[in-house]
Amino acid sequence: MSTPAMPVPSDTTLLLAEAAQRLAAGGLVAFPTETVYGLGADAENPEAIARIYRAKGRPSNHPVIVHVAPEADIGYWAASIPAQGRALIQAFWPGPLTLILPRAAHIPAAVSGGQDSVGLRCPSHPVAQALLREFARLKANGQGGVAAPSANKFGQVSPTHAAHVHSEFPDLGPADLMVLEGGPAQVGIESTIVDVSRTGQGIGPVLLRPGHISAAQIAEVLGVEPARPDAAAPQVSGSLKAHYAPRTPLLLQALDRLLEAAAEPVSGRTAAVVFPGHAGPAMEQVDWLECPDDPAAYARELYSLLRRLDQQGYARILMERPPRGIAWQAVNDRIGRAAAAFEPS
Ligand code: TXA
Ligand code: MG
Repeated sequence: MSTPAMPVPSDTTLLLAEAAQRLAAGGLVAFPTETVYGLGADAENPEAIARIYRAKGRPSNHPVIVHVAPEADIGYWAASIPAQGRALIQAFWPGPLTLILPRAAHIPAAVSGGQDSVGLRCPSHPVAQALLREFARLKANGQGGVAAPSANKFGQVSPTHAAHVHSEFPDLGPADLMVLEGGPAQVGIESTIVDVSRTGQGIGPVLLRPGHISAAQIAEVLGVEPARPDAAAPQVSGSLKAHYAPRTPLLLQALDRLLEAAAEPVSGRTAAVVFPGHAGPAMEQVDWLECPDDPAAYARELYSLLRRLDQQGYARILMERPPRGIAWQAVNDRIGRAAAAFEPS
């Protein structure tokens, strides 16, 4: 699997060596990927991984994705690579796809929250790739992986700009956390996750988290639709019902219901996010905002929109429910979970 090296901005090159050194010393480095920014640590250093969990406030039984460079030996990380895994790697790496594979015995269980699998992803972002290469070079065996969840506090919206990462961890100073700049994330929502760790037992592939790479694209490569998660499927924290939530209450509604809700008196201001041409009548306490009507553009802007609205002190956010259908599956998954955080349980 080889890809042409993409250019890295020159000021970033200077920082990459320091970032790789920090990872090798057990430190934390946040870095850009094409999906969202990640909070990285050496995947083979359990103490460094514990630092990620502490910084995020995340339960330590939640597995973390291991990021590898395009040249990495997948056989170093995975005990076996089923044919379906190979086909997906061939089709979609580097890119926004994470594969869950059986974990090689020498890879610490800490990275997968004690499960016997490992999540692997080869990102396409040039800064991520340069960091991964530089880090692997520092390892005696040339194999280095960076464990990284999204660089946000547990349950919060993932960061799509470096500035978001800084605002998530005000308690970590520059000595504790280095943040590499890589511009706005182009995909904007987290990678698609496919479990192929149980194909030896005749189970799978299973779509654990929808994303930019759709179930239809996966089916095209594999010749079968990935199944929905079953009870025994590996745990994914992003599959908790309430996750990816802003701080401002978010209500997801069909347009007719949203227009009614916007007109109801509430204390404080309302942000009403609707598709182009759907804004209701001007009202003193309501700001109408238009969202993109293309799912990729919607995904790219979603998290930074939620962050912006959070900062603007709205009492509530009303969002028009996107269309159903496969093209909107990943967007519906994320905003459905964000809204679920505010539904009465
Ligand atoms: O796009 C992404 O995937 C971003 C960027 C930084 O790569 N990362 C990300 O990480 O979204 P995180 O930790 O926020 O979500 C990763 C998900 C978690 O829900 C975790 O449970 C699941 O991947 N995961 C990781 N390793 C796993 C494993 N061995 N078995 C099952 N699920 C796993
Ligand atoms: Mg996350």
